[in-house]
Amino acid sequence: MSSDSNAQGCKVVLLGDSGVGKTCIISRYITGNFEKNSVSTNGASYCSKNVEYKKLGKNLLLDIWDTAGQEKYKALTKFFYKDAAICVLVYDITNKESFNNLKNFWYTQIKENNGTQIILGVCGNKCDLYENEEVEENDGRQFAEEIGAIFALTSAQNNTGISELFFNLGYKFLRPSYNPNADGNEVEAEVKEDTKEEKKDKKKDEKKIVLKKEDVGRRNRNKKSCC
Ligand code: GTP
Repeated sequence: MSSDSNAQGCKVVLLGDSGVGKTCIISRYITGNFEKNSVSTNGASYCSKNVEYKKLGKNLLLDIWDTAGQEKYKALTKFFYKDAAICVLVYDITNKESFNNLKNFWYTQIKENNGTQIILGVCGNKCDLYENEEVEENDGRQFAEEIGAIFALTSAQNNTGISELFFNLGYKFLRPSYNPNADGNEVEAEVKEDTKEEKKDKKKDEKKIVLKKEDVGRRNRNKKSCC
């Protein structure tokens, strides 16, 4: 995938309960690896990835923020999503409570603390564990429809649905009228190609900083100086 220093920037934030797999999704997308023993995020971490949209003749630099789902970080998380352009709401398909919290807490937080223009994704992760499913796909899909979000079932373990989700969200950022259900075929081929090229380029676009709680105020005051 080509790198483009003139790529338009776009802030993406992943939200959801602790343990739903936010870090693993990002890690899979950026490095191509699955972190079986992923440790709980401490504060937040940040990566960026350059995505090429051939049909649109554009490049997008996705600034992807991984936030901590733990209770103790909830107040802090607000700083990360208040100016995000895209938010991915993640639940674990084997954990009903994570889905309920998505609807009753995380989504409400976004509505209260972010402008109305945010592009939303709803992501049912760990779909490799479908035998233990507690949230049916239809319920996830219906919630996504209700809030006007792009829906995806993903597995960070099996590398299912992740590139497509980020690609679709970026597409919608560039083309707000884009509807992956209606226009999906047009984009599908490009996502596949993107995923193939991505494997060659895994490390190239990667930049990662881990922030501790005390770094957050500084980071938010001086965001442009980093990366
Ligand atoms: P916090 O940082 O505490 O907010 O958690 P998180 O949402 O970032 O979860 P994390 O990515 O750390 O993953 C939690 C656990 O779920 C880890 O043991 C992962 O290996 C596991 N996990 C993540 N994604 C998947 C998946 O798609 N399938 C399976 N089977 N396990 C997964």
